[in-house]
Amino acid sequence: MADLEKRDLVSIEDLSQAEILELFHHADEFRANLLAWSDLCRGTIMATLFFEPSTRTRLSFESAMLRLGGGVITAADEKNTSRSKGESLADTVRVVGGSYADILVVRHPEDGAARVAARYARVPVINGGDGAHEHPTQTLCDLYTLWKEKGRLEGLEVVLCGDLRYSRTIHSFCYALARFRANIVTMPYPGFELPDYVLHRLRRDFGVQAAAASVAELPGLAGSSNAAAYLTSSKPHQLALFTNLTNVEVNRIDAIYMTRAQRERHSGEDTINYPRLTRSTLGAEAAKDARVMHPLPRVDEIDYDVDDDPRSIYFRQAELGVPMRMALLAFLLGKIQLRAARPALLSVMPGMAAGAGLRCRNERCITNNEGVRYLNGDFRLRDGEVPPVLSCAYCEREIEARFVGHSQSRVAHRYNAPEARRIKAELRVYFESETQAQAAGFQCASG
Ligand code: CP
Repeated sequence: MADLEKRDLVSIEDLSQAEILELFHHADEFRANLLAWSDLCRGTIMATLFFEPSTRTRLSFESAMLRLGGGVITAADEKNTSRSKGESLADTVRVVGGSYADILVVRHPEDGAARVAARYARVPVINGGDGAHEHPTQTLCDLYTLWKEKGRLEGLEVVLCGDLRYSRTIHSFCYALARFRANIVTMPYPGFELPDYVLHRLRRDFGVQAAAASVAELPGLAGSSNAAAYLTSSKPHQLALFTNLTNVEVNRIDAIYMTRAQRERHSGEDTINYPRLTRSTLGAEAAKDARVMHPLPRVDEIDYDVDDDPRSIYFRQAELGVPMRMALLAFLLGKIQLRAARPALLSVMPGMAAGAGLRCRNERCITNNEGVRYLNGDFRLRDGEVPPVLSCAYCEREIEARFVGHSQSRVAHRYNAPEARRIKAELRVYFESETQAQAAGFQCASG
């Protein structure tokens, strides 16, 4: 596969809405007869590089590839790979994504790892979950299941519940729901709200606005406080529906998406009284037509006696993962073509080296962990933000750049000084603070 042509799936935004819908139709075809496709990818090899545990993602990808007639090589336990001897992800994917395999599926504990893999591998890379960042193929399975259940995605009212801070499936799902113009009600476990960078991205890239919401009582989910935020698109057709975005009342729910506490990413946080979905939750009038979703694995957050309720679709999400991933693999390997256009460019400048001194503030970002050895800070300037906002090109966490330096004169100015505005874009170097600019050898102009 030619390097320049490769498509990766690092973020759910690497697919346009139209491409996603077209992939659903291919998944339907694959699902209609799972046994009929064993020639489609014959001769190709997929490598699954899983540096974190997995049941569904790895096995459904492997099943999908085998059903397509391809081969599979796997590294399912990091202890049995040379990562345990200190090999970097970049070197691993350079080796495996060459003559060993034609496509890689990577799961890694560090935020932004999938972007690193995509950058260094010569073959397509699929993000199987990178830290708390994104899990786009879970979102494809979630959207596909919901779309089959409800016949549409637009305008659905979806409640997201639990650990919204560290759940990568939630982050990818939010972006997709916003793009498909579904409305989101967040019911986080206290202290585990959606991170600011996710909310900023929803607002900036998809025009999503937040409002307080009063949600019909859902026993077990939000306790007595029933605290919720309502996130909806501000695009014109939605404005017609929601002219006043305060105190929205949500009385009809299409889906409740429950998540487990992502304890492997916690730093000793307390999760006593974590929400629990029970039969009594589903007895609420507002949940009459709701579907209960969960990316799985379930721990304690959905009672087992909810499994038999026809509204529970979490095992269906897992089942549909095979045809959905068959469609994705066939597409990324060039075995099926999509008529739909690729995603439009988002409002970001090309990646830029931010110069000495600037580093991502996310301590879980790969640039601050194994990438310290070989990755420089790499940031994207977000359009239209004042003061300038840069987001890490790997994990997307944002920093405010209050000082702008001239790369040749080595003089830095406050971002709103006239001198700063006169520096040509290609000569700008951004800093969070005067101290950081000085540490990088820049002289700070007064004022
Ligand atoms: N939903 C999901 O990613 O499950 P696994 O961790 O089992 O792959």
